[in-house]
Amino acid sequence: MSNALKEYLTLCQNRVEQALDNRLPAAETLPKKLHEAMRYTVLNGGKRMRPMLTYATGKALQLDQDCLDGPACAVECIHVYSLIHDDLPAMDDDDLRRGKPTCHIAYDEATAILAGDALQAMAFEILAKDQNIAVSPQARIQMITTLTKASGSQGMVGGQAIDLESVGKKITLPELENMHIHKTGALIRSSVNMAALCHPNLDATIAKQLDHYAKCIGLSFQVKDDILDEESDTATLGKTQGKDKDNDKPTYPALLGMAGAKQKAQELHEQAIESLSCFGEEADMLRALSLYIIERDH
Ligand code: IPE
Ligand code: IPE
Ligand code: MG
Ligand code: MG
Ligand code: MG
Repeated sequence: MSNALKEYLTLCQNRVEQALDNRLPAAETLPKKLHEAMRYTVLNGGKRMRPMLTYATGKALQLDQDCLDGPACAVECIHVYSLIHDDLPAMDDDDLRRGKPTCHIAYDEATAILAGDALQAMAFEILAKDQNIAVSPQARIQMITTLTKASGSQGMVGGQAIDLESVGKKITLPELENMHIHKTGALIRSSVNMAALCHPNLDATIAKQLDHYAKCIGLSFQVKDDILDEESDTATLGKTQGKDKDNDKPTYPALLGMAGAKQKAQELHEQAIESLSCFGEEADMLRALSLYIIERDH
């Protein structure tokens, strides 16, 4: 990773962490255990890939960064809620996340369910209320609609349902792609599209190109997640390696083989870069993030 990207990523990570810290209820606020669990899971060192994509899209469109804190925090809240629920015994039954005990292990299952529920509500409260989201009321509603669609039964939650239904089954490549596009791709796509909605009059062709970029990296992100689950180790990942095989999940390496899965990730990266051809160097961070997604080690 180039030094410029590293510096930019650290800047975005610090910025979103501060913004999340400011927006989360204090740990002393009643009910204490719930608020502690929310803070524990949100402020515990994720990569912050989705907020970074929101900020990097804003940079490509030369937008005011203050407008982006709300959507960046909102998408991260939905993401963290999805991880808390994904780790529950009823789903993937994981006890390690981001190098620490998962929420239901550190607290208890009921608290983990509620912390996820509360983070979901918090995401939409931020989009509805944040004063720095300086857009028209119509654009704000479009932003809320974008995130609801990406999170709901035709987005992340729908993808999770397909994931659970597919355990132990042989599914086809189009079915696997559909599952990944929903469970992971939808939220990543929304993190780019919400930033685009901060632009007061974005050209429709540019919006479409950005959406295509986001669709490609949303899928490559989960292809790489599947590869890492097989190839990496628990200490580097901060989550238990080999869980997909243990849980008999359909994955890209399982369907295409490891070389085929890597080839697929590379092709998606190339398509993502091509989608940005209408941009100059203002989109270099988006280009670098696409490469980072397929080259990352955790
Ligand atoms: C993991 O997401 C879950 C998937 C959707 C594949 P990340 O790899 O972005 O997890 P964190 O936020 O960095 O922990
Ligand atoms: C998770 O996919 C997708 C969501 C949380 C929506 P995985 O189950 O592969 O994610 P990890 O590997 O546990 O992070
Ligand atoms: Mg899962
Ligand atoms: Mg999982
Ligand atoms: Mg995984």
